[in-house]
Amino acid sequence: MAPSTKVYVDEDVGKDDPSADGSEAAPYKTLLFAYIQHPPTQSHGPEYLTRKSETGPVSVDGDPALRKEWKPATTSATKKVNKLYEQHKKKLAKTDELAIREKEEKEKRQQAMQEAMKIKIIEDPKLPKAFKIRLNEKDPALIKLRKGTSEKDVNYSEGRGSRVRVTGRVHRFRAQKDVIFITLQDGYGLLQCVLTGDLTKTYDALTLTAETSIELWGEMWEVPPKQHAPDNRELHVDYYEVIGKAAGDKEAITTRVTPDSDPQTLYDNRHLVLRGENSSSVMKVRAATLRAFRQVYESEITPSCLEVTPPCMVQTQVEGGSTLFEFNYYGEKAYLTQSSQLYLETCLPSLGNVFCVAPSFRAEKSLTRRHLSEYTHIEAELDFITFDDLLTHLELVMFKVIEVALSDPRTKKAVYDLNPTFQVPERPFMRMRYADAITWLREHDIKNEEGQPHEFGDDIAEAAERKMTDIINRPIFLTHFPVAIKAFYMKKDPNDLRVTESVDCLMPGVGEIVGGSMRIDDYDEIMAAYAREGIDPKPYYWYTDQRKYGTSSHGGYGLGLERFLAWMCGRYTVRECCLYPRFTNRCTP
Ligand code: 4AD
Ligand code: MG
Repeated sequence: MAPSTKVYVDEDVGKDDPSADGSEAAPYKTLLFAYIQHPPTQSHGPEYLTRKSETGPVSVDGDPALRKEWKPATTSATKKVNKLYEQHKKKLAKTDELAIREKEEKEKRQQAMQEAMKIKIIEDPKLPKAFKIRLNEKDPALIKLRKGTSEKDVNYSEGRGSRVRVTGRVHRFRAQKDVIFITLQDGYGLLQCVLTGDLTKTYDALTLTAETSIELWGEMWEVPPKQHAPDNRELHVDYYEVIGKAAGDKEAITTRVTPDSDPQTLYDNRHLVLRGENSSSVMKVRAATLRAFRQVYESEITPSCLEVTPPCMVQTQVEGGSTLFEFNYYGEKAYLTQSSQLYLETCLPSLGNVFCVAPSFRAEKSLTRRHLSEYTHIEAELDFITFDDLLTHLELVMFKVIEVALSDPRTKKAVYDLNPTFQVPERPFMRMRYADAITWLREHDIKNEEGQPHEFGDDIAEAAERKMTDIINRPIFLTHFPVAIKAFYMKKDPNDLRVTESVDCLMPGVGEIVGGSMRIDDYDEIMAAYAREGIDPKPYYWYTDQRKYGTSSHGGYGLGLERFLAWMCGRYTVRECCLYPRFTNRCTP
């Protein structure tokens, strides 16, 4: 503004921004802004002139041009603005004070950091040599715990605990005045590590972040009475080295993923989510479950099943063409397997009962909480059996797998931590024929996908199936599905040719977790089944041969591992039950 003692305010067209300067040509919009830009002075402060150039009052037959006249601010307006201006000044002073304090604190921090950088810790060569342990190592013959109340300084002169060396990542930490408690995790267990003295004053200690990888040396102590730590022990650290700092602040893992992050963020950051207690527990239960299946198939049941590993790249379908993932195999059309069943059948004559644990692939069109595009399929095939044998075997395997898995205390703890209300199912499982399920659904007024009462022949959709399972609230063997809604290879029930000797095992909360059946064992019948389903029998010659060279009454089933885990661990979706879930439109990370 040109040197002038007049400041102009036009409440209609003025601007409270840098485009205005308070001149007549570029007036401000408010008196307060004018005060802030050109503060009143005690003696000859500026004169504030105001107008409302467009909306100002005009008398009935007055000239609207009068609005353009500049008038000194009224007494009441001046009074009001003086008050606002005082408030403004107070606020400014407070902000200044805050900024000064912040600056001081920053300087203090910087100084502390500089001091901290000067503090170098070294391993005391007089201490006993440390041996390396994993955090789940609890053998009392190997690890002696020092007893008594904690002392600030580690003293090895009498009744010493073992001096050990541990590596892991900072799961949590709590910094107090002269002590830092770190809960270390290494994938095997947790250990509370206590830092005192100079150990808490180094630069690394002052900038510690969760997930930092670190190596620590120290003496093992029993936790003092009334205090709590994993396994009731703690490491009194005498030396440590940070191996890899974890990013903090805005980049901290806890900022990137939080319990209420949206699902896409969680899937994008699955690698970080997997570091969490729940996700890693599910993975541990998964491993224990796989171990249990193998143990049960190989040694806990008679006759046992032998593990085989069929190929995943195939040129035949098993469960219908609509969910096939196709790919180019050296110029020929090939698919990712939907099920290893057909291969398992060919193993029976020379290997006896067999099982496999292999990925199966389904190009599912619908995005549901129990469908994956790639899942781990546990399949078994049994020779010379009846349909009833199949059901009894399946029930026994599931029961034994749970028993074996829960017999390991760590697995048991993980399952009940994840799913406190988990109940081991009672045998025998409830058995229900498909036709009776249709009646049950009608009686309970649960409609089909078209909103109509269920009819014999309907595919029982996911929602209806889950409702029924949740109401019945115990495992169900749903049997004898109609021929038309099941796969080509299923054997018909000799007593009712409309239905197959088939079974789905339904579990509360999830629905179908197993699908199985007896297989057509007659040559002509399998040829008729190909024709019925419009399948070219040529590429299936090897499957058909099974019926040509010493056929047998046989059957088997497939169990979706992620669905089994979702049920056992009480997870909302199967996507939480595998490392990196693959589902519609997601093939990363
Ligand atoms: O019922 P399905 O399609 O049966 C078969 O594939 C048979 N050939 C198995 C056999 O008899 N050997 O699939 C079997 C199980 C289902 O019960 C379900 O648990 C799981 O595989 N499953 C899936 N799991 C996750 N995502 C998907 N898209 C799944 N499709 C099937
Ligand atoms: Mg099925």
